[in-house]
Amino acid sequence: PNARTVIRGGLVITAADELHADVLIEGERVAALATTGSAAAEAWTADTVIDATGHYVIPGGVDAHTHMELPFGGTAASDTFETGTRAAAWGGTTTIVDFAVQPVGASLREGLDAWHAKADGNCAIDYAFHTIVSDVNDGVLKEMDALVDSGESTSFKLFMAYPGVFYSDDGRILRAMQRGAANGGLIMMHAENGIAIDVLVEQALAAGHTAPRYHGEVRRELLEAEATHRAIKLAQVAGSPLYVVHVSAASALAELAQARDAGLNVFGETCPQYLFLSTDNLAETGADGFEGAKYVCSTPLRPREHQAALWRGLRANDLQVVSTDHCPFCFAGQKELGRGDFSKIPNGLPGVENRMDLLHQAVVDGHITRRRWIEIACTTPARMFGLHPRKGTITPGADADIVVYDPTAVQTVSAATHHMNVDYSAYEGRQLAGRARTVLSRGTVVLDDGTWLGRAGHGAFQRRDTCQYLT
Ligand code: URP
Ligand code: ZN
Ligand code: ZN
Ligand code: ZN
Repeated sequence: PNARTVIRGGLVITAADELHADVLIEGERVAALATTGSAAAEAWTADTVIDATGHYVIPGGVDAHTHMELPFGGTAASDTFETGTRAAAWGGTTTIVDFAVQPVGASLREGLDAWHAKADGNCAIDYAFHTIVSDVNDGVLKEMDALVDSGESTSFKLFMAYPGVFYSDDGRILRAMQRGAANGGLIMMHAENGIAIDVLVEQALAAGHTAPRYHGEVRRELLEAEATHRAIKLAQVAGSPLYVVHVSAASALAELAQARDAGLNVFGETCPQYLFLSTDNLAETGADGFEGAKYVCSTPLRPREHQAALWRGLRANDLQVVSTDHCPFCFAGQKELGRGDFSKIPNGLPGVENRMDLLHQAVVDGHITRRRWIEIACTTPARMFGLHPRKGTITPGADADIVVYDPTAVQTVSAATHHMNVDYSAYEGRQLAGRARTVLSRGTVVLDDGTWLGRAGHGAFQRRDTCQYLT
C-alpha cells in the first residue's frame, strides 16, 4: 500500500545542502521535498505526519564495514544480523555492508551463501555484502566477474595481514586487482604487513610481553604505511582502483594523500575508534592489567597525535568514508581468550550503534561540518559501493531511509543501555550531544522516541552498482 507520510518542519541536511523543507514519502520511497510553509508542502495530504520541528532530517547512515557473526580467533563476533542491525538502527544507521568470507579451499559462492543464510530474514534494516577473498585462484577470478555483473557483490576485500588466515601475497593481490580493473570491481585492502608483524608477535611473546598493549606495539605504524604504499603501487600497476579500509596511522594517510594528489583512484576509510580512542585505552588497566583487551583491533589504536591527522584527512577528502569495522567480542569469555597471550585476543571493536552520534559530536566539536558528517557517514559510502541514489541521500526516488535527529539530546554511552550484543562499550561514560529520535527504513518507522517498532526480516538484501568515483 502506498501510505503517505510527511516529515514536517525539520532542517534537511544532505551532503550538498541544508534546507528547511518538508519531505513527502509514498510507500517505500521519497516522493518530493518542498520548502516548509510553501503552498506545495501545505497541499500535501498524508496518512502520517511526523513533526521534525527543531530536528535534523538526515539520510539514514550507511555503515560500509561490519562483521556480524564473523568467525575469528576460535570464536565468533557476538552480534548476529538480528541484534547488530537492530543496534545499527537505534544509532541512526539504516544500511550495512557486511563481509561474506570465502572459506579457504571453497568458492566465493559458498561464502556468500553462508552469509545470506545468516542474514536473510533476520535483518531489521537493509544490507549488502562485500566479499572477502581469502584464496585468489582462476575460479575465484571468474566468480568476481559474475558477482560484479549481477551486483551481488561489487567489492572485494584482500588482506596483507593475517598470514595463514585471510592473507594474500603480492602476486595474488596483483591478479585480483587486474581482474577488478577489467570488471569494475573495487578492491578493498587491509593494509598491514602481516608477515613482518607475525615475526614481531613471536619475539614479543618470547620476551614475556603478553599484555594487550603489545598488540598495538607490534603492529607498527611503519608496517601500516609500508603496506599502504605497496597496495597503492600494486593498484597502479594493475590500473585498478583501491579502497584502503580502517586507516589508523598518519603516515599511511600520507601515502593515500600523495596517491590522490597524483590523480589515482585511491580511497581511504577510517573508523570512529581511530578518531576517538588511542593507545591510552590499550594501557594495562583493571585488576590484572588486561582491560586493554577491549581495545584490541587491527589496524590497532595509535597514539593520540594521529587523531588530528585523521580529522584533517577527512576535511581534506584524503579520507572519504567513516565506517565502524563493527566486530564485537564480549570481554567475558571472548576477549579473555587472550589472557597471557595478546595474540589470542579476538580482534575487533563494537561500534555500529555509536558511529552517527560520535560523528555528530565531532560536528559540535568543530572537526567537521554538518554536511561533511552526512557525506562521510551516508552519501559517500553509498556512492563508493554502488548503493546511491537509492541510499545515502534524501531525494525524490530514493529509498525513504530517513532519520529525524535531535541534535540537542544528551546521552551517556554505556553498555548498560546500548543495544549491541556485547558486554562492554568502547565509549563507556562518554557524553554525546545528539541522538536519532525517529528512524525510517524504506518508509517504515522502525524506531520512534525510544520505542522499537522494527522487525527482523524487514531488511532486504541490496544488489549494488559499481563504485561511482572512478575516473
Ligand atoms: O580488528 C578487526 N578489524 N577485526 C575485523 C577484521 C578486519 O580486519 O577488518
Ligand atoms: Zn581488516
Ligand atoms: Zn591532497
Ligand atoms: Zn573489518
